[in-house]
Amino acid sequence: MLSSQERRHADWARHLLLLGGLLALMREAVCQDLRERVEAAGVRCMAEVEGGASGPAFVGCIDREVDVGHHNRQYFEFIRNFSCAQDDLGTPPERRTVVTVPVGYDACEAAAAVPSKPGGGGDVQSPHQDFDYLPGVLPAGNDIVQEADMDVQQAAQRCTELADCKGFTYQSKSPFESKATMFFKSSAYGYRPDPKWHTMLRKKDETCTVRDPGVVEEMRSFHVDIIREEPLVAMVRGFATAAECDELVAAGGAWEGMSRAYTSSGGFSQERRSYSSNIYPPLNDPQDGITRLTALMFAVTRNLTGYVVYPQGQEPVNAVLYKIIGDEYRPHCDGDCAGSEHQPGERIATSILYCRAAEKGGQTSFTESALKVVPAEGDMLLFAYRYPDGKMTRAEAEHSGCPLRAGKKWIATQWYREGVSELWNWEAANQQSRF
Ligand SMILES: *[C@@H]1O[C@H](CO)[C@@H](O)[C@H](O)[C@H]1NC(C)=O
Ligand SMILES: *[C@@H]1O[C@H](CO)[C@@H](O)[C@H](O)[C@H]1NC(C)=O
Repeated sequence: MLSSQERRHADWARHLLLLGGLLALMREAVCQDLRERVEAAGVRCMAEVEGGASGPAFVGCIDREVDVGHHNRQYFEFIRNFSCAQDDLGTPPERRTVVTVPVGYDACEAAAAVPSKPGGGGDVQSPHQDFDYLPGVLPAGNDIVQEADMDVQQAAQRCTELADCKGFTYQSKSPFESKATMFFKSSAYGYRPDPKWHTMLRKKDETCTVRDPGVVEEMRSFHVDIIREEPLVAMVRGFATAAECDELVAAGGAWEGMSRAYTSSGGFSQERRSYSSNIYPPLNDPQDGITRLTALMFAVTRNLTGYVVYPQGQEPVNAVLYKIIGDEYRPHCDGDCAGSEHQPGERIATSILYCRAAEKGGQTSFTESALKVVPAEGDMLLFAYRYPDGKMTRAEAEHSGCPLRAGKKWIATQWYREGVSELWNWEAANQQSRF
């Protein structure tokens, strides 16, 4: 038997549950109602505006029809979902242009444009003219030999005598005065900042091959749709040939082997349903097809954005496969999108090369103004998210991959960072900034 007090508590609990359930139902109903209103408005508006179910005019029309007081995330996602479900041609460009850029990877061009010293604090004077000093560590691996109780001058001497010595790394309080155990390395790969470690890297003695002025450079021209001027959203039509795409897709590995990428972070829903793998362009081989294609992405991006971006020190090309109906990437930003001051080495632009396009769905949309691009195979989307005044964008750069409705979609994403170099690469930059 329950006491009367226990009965009262049980009654209360039942009432609270009921109330909670009712509130949830009401929320659901309000939400359902808003979705239905957005969808109904969507049908009317897409008949009315140029560009079908996309673009600022379309959002403006829905705003008027639905008459919502405030724009929350859910409202924009209803619009996005509606827009994704339509098979129109996407947002018409504000203007069209042609860019012409040189083909080929020129390591020297980058070396001249980007300082090789770390962006975040490498102002220590090197104690040896043949070596650069870096505040950090070269990780385990690539060891030639290690020597205990040696000072920096002795170690520099030793390194120049060793075949293949690219530099040495050591742990000590002060970078130059004390003796330490020196680890001599055959590669500078993997350098990262570390307050307890120091690295001396041999300066490269290779001289850059200057382009012969008598030789006509190979150039390529592309038609570009400028869909939004600032922050830039541009579609480079026919960026890659079928052969170039085939080579890239092959480099991304077997589709069965690509790993499922579910990502969830930040304050709001950022879901990702797709498969991905990384492609590392062999920058030591300028004739390699993937090196050349990557270099071309950077050349086009430099031209369209004016950003000082080069292949060295960048993140690998990220291959992403959408293969099951419903695979999508919900609205998200690739870099900072809180309007902060840009940090050196932080992501500032993204390009997406569509090598296999979906038969239906799989478009890329921008949440805030419902811009939508419908790719053909070989097209490359480029969007930038740093303003000329050095501030990062806000929601203007938020974008999504629409759900796949038929076929498969395979894209190669390249993120662009300004200020990274072979020595101070994206991993080093990541330790100092947010993206
Ligand atoms: C939008 O569509 C996705 C599926 O693609 C769904 O999970 C999500 O809940 C929808 N968003 C809203 C606000 O209904
Ligand atoms: C971009 O390309 C166009 C056309 O080829 C050229 O006129 C322009 O100077 C280039 N801009 C930059 C910043 O390289």
